[in-house]
Amino acid sequence: MSQYFEADPSVASKKQLIELVLPDGSIELTTDRGVFSADRVDGGTKLLLLDGPEPVADDQTLVDVGCGYGPIACTLARRNPTATVWAVDVNQRARDLCTTNAANLGLDNVQVTTPDDVPADLIVDRIWSNPPIRVGKAVLHEILEFWLARLSPAGSAHLVVQKHLGADSLHRWLETQGWAVDRRASRKAFRLLDVTRP
Ligand SMILES: C[S@@+](CC[C@H](N)C(=O)[O-])C[C@H]1O[C@@H](n2cnc3c(N)ncnc32)[C@H](O)[C@@H]1O
Repeated sequence: MSQYFEADPSVASKKQLIELVLPDGSIELTTDRGVFSADRVDGGTKLLLLDGPEPVADDQTLVDVGCGYGPIACTLARRNPTATVWAVDVNQRARDLCTTNAANLGLDNVQVTTPDDVPADLIVDRIWSNPPIRVGKAVLHEILEFWLARLSPAGSAHLVVQKHLGADSLHRWLETQGWAVDRRASRKAFRLLDVTRP
């Protein structure tokens, strides 16, 4: 079976429009088969967007690690019009949808890219992610190490993880790697973790 985190999903395309409803505004997004949570915005993603930190100061650099069709990246770009939002995904179909969604919403501050094309010297003020837990622990840890190493000194990461998919063990692992971790929210099936330098 085709997995949503494959680079090139083999499942036939069947696009649809879904709505992301938030207290500060709603947007329509195009999704497709072969990408994560195509039928509705994922509950964890919604929690991250509802309970994540306030918009940043001007001109900051944000990244959505594992952007999918772009619910997080497009919301960040809308809330932070002077920030640059990097939207990164391995899945080509997801990247194409994220590009289309940002364009349809008139958001010109979203940079969609593959992990391999991220500039080597990129420094990030905030990482937002509903990370790809299903890739397995070893790959997930590599992804997080890659991105956390790019945080600015005062930077922070905001990760939403399902409790039954290892949110608490990820929390402990991050602490063993020397990061300060706070549980910002715990609602329904999810935990929202804030990660900073100690
Ligand atoms: C849980 S989904 C979240 C998607 C989207 N942010 C959302 O909220 O609907 C995780 C995403 O990570 C992507 N992914 C998997 N491995 C990745 C990697 N090494 N770097 C970046 N993204 C990756 C998957 O393709 C998938 O789109």
